[in-house]
Amino acid sequence: MGKILLLNGPNLNLLGKREPGVYGNETLDRLEQDMKALGTSYETEVSCFQSNHEGELIDKLHLANEDGTQGIIFNPGAFTHYSYAIRDAVAGIQVPVIEVHISNVHAREEFRHTSVIAPAAMGQIVGLGFKGYELAFYALVDFEKGRG
Ligand code: DQA
Repeated sequence: MGKILLLNGPNLNLLGKREPGVYGNETLDRLEQDMKALGTSYETEVSCFQSNHEGELIDKLHLANEDGTQGIIFNPGAFTHYSYAIRDAVAGIQVPVIEVHISNVHAREEFRHTSVIAPAAMGQIVGLGFKGYELAFYALVDFEKGRG
């Protein structure tokens, strides 16, 4: 049984209410339930965590490195664009991280075009809505198979 962590950063608890024209109408709870169900069909436990606090996200990344987590699907929210501390945490763990953004950050404000985290991640998926999380899941499961 594999183990994947779904990690969401600041303001993503407001999904469904927050700028629905950009982020859609679905809630974080919906996303987490769907990802858990997807995990079950691949005999993979998907554990979910969301925080608005940088340090809590960093602690979770460190913990995932110790508890047998095989991959992390991570939407760091606005921390993407400036958190060197989160980038260092991603670079400092062995667990592969796929960075996901619901919106197409490249079609938005200039400050969203840069990710300080992406260079430390295994890959990045942007602009595909909730589908991006699902695709990241498949990539991590495949990657683990290839490794195992
Ligand atoms: C986001 C994009 C970020 O620029 C923004 O700050 C978010 C959400 C996305 O999923 O599209 O909070 O990460």
